[in-house]
Amino acid sequence: MNDLFLEMKARGQEQVLRFWDELSPPEREELARQIRSVDWETVSLWSHPEDLSGKGEISPIEGLSVAQIGARRAEFTAVGERAIREGKVAAVLLAGGQGTRLGSNAPKGTFDIGITRPVYIFGRLIANLLDVTERCGAYVPLLVMTSEKNDAETRAFFEAHGRFGYPSEYLRFFCQDMVPSVDFGGKLLLEGKGRLALSPNGNAGWYSSLMRSGLMKEFPETEWYNVFAVDNVLQRIADPAFIGATILSGCKSGAKVVSKAAPEERVGVLCLDDGLPTVIEYYELTDSMAHARGEGGELLYRYGVILNYLFDARRLKEVAAARIPVHVVKKKVPFVDETGALVSPGRENAYKFETLILDMISLMGSCLPFEVEREREFAPVKNRTGTDSVDSARELLLKNGVEL
Ligand code: UTP
Repeated sequence: MNDLFLEMKARGQEQVLRFWDELSPPEREELARQIRSVDWETVSLWSHPEDLSGKGEISPIEGLSVAQIGARRAEFTAVGERAIREGKVAAVLLAGGQGTRLGSNAPKGTFDIGITRPVYIFGRLIANLLDVTERCGAYVPLLVMTSEKNDAETRAFFEAHGRFGYPSEYLRFFCQDMVPSVDFGGKLLLEGKGRLALSPNGNAGWYSSLMRSGLMKEFPETEWYNVFAVDNVLQRIADPAFIGATILSGCKSGAKVVSKAAPEERVGVLCLDDGLPTVIEYYELTDSMAHARGEGGELLYRYGVILNYLFDARRLKEVAAARIPVHVVKKKVPFVDETGALVSPGRENAYKFETLILDMISLMGSCLPFEVEREREFAPVKNRTGTDSVDSARELLLKNGVEL
């Protein structure tokens, strides 16, 4: 214990042990465990955030359009289905987020988007995956990334619903790593007297967390990971045409994209940065780039990403040691003050540290943009109402013939 005090003092973080005397032995043990797993290098970034704006020369990227895919669909599908049957594809469901915009504390996948009957987000995703596995006659390992905050609830939900018909041999859960939040002076915050204020380390945390889990030893044939977000209820998972096209392209990654609805649309855009694939955020795109058009009148920077990627497993292993940029973001983080009272701040009070999956695309070295029809494959549930909301997703589900 003394060591812990000394170390925290040396780091200027004694406040985390402020309530030590009030804690029970198991609470002390847990707090000590949390402190020992702090990644201090990441935490230190609060005072000198990496410059993530250092872009090189940005240029448009060539991709496969809906029409081009249509013309070669049978060929792509055959290659993708073969890869699935040979056990080369695993699906990774990113469900470690906190879904703060939806305003519920429950895991986002447990949200019921139904109208006349329960239609859970997790259930919808599994139904979409089953479409593929039934056609292929082979299951795809489905690896669900949770966080410490929602792991137990997520697993229990799947069990309570019979895993939505997915076989247990092919369903696994792993927890993503957590990082602490700090106040604007770099001090670690407590969310309880014996608990650091921790949050998931961002969706690029999936690979290192999956490797740490040791799960992949069970699926050694995996050559491709199809990584996707929990909140797109029209998501096509392990889409054979997407897999086949990416394999045939020779690219080390693939990204499902939709054509932007308008130059100003707020969506990350896939492009090249000094020849390497990258995703630039809508606010990084200059006005002239956003409006630039090719000879056929199409937007040059039109490929909006929808968080459905394929990653080559071998390449991931090669770049595993590379450091994924850490984004330092201001957030409202509830904390316990010096009197032990829980404070819910009205405005941003802390830095969180997040890695983003889109930063992994550059590390892969090459990426195939694979365009899909927005109306058929993109219905994200981010907000309660308005854009990308429960309402808009319901409308799209109904249009696609899903009974709600
Ligand atoms: P979002 O960026 O929409 O974040 O995640 P979020 O936490 O779900 O929602 P808000 O912003 O708080 O409202 C995109 C995808 O990445 C996953 C989410 O679960 C979602 O599938 N994610 C995000 C993680 O798995 N871990 C994280 O640390 C962050």
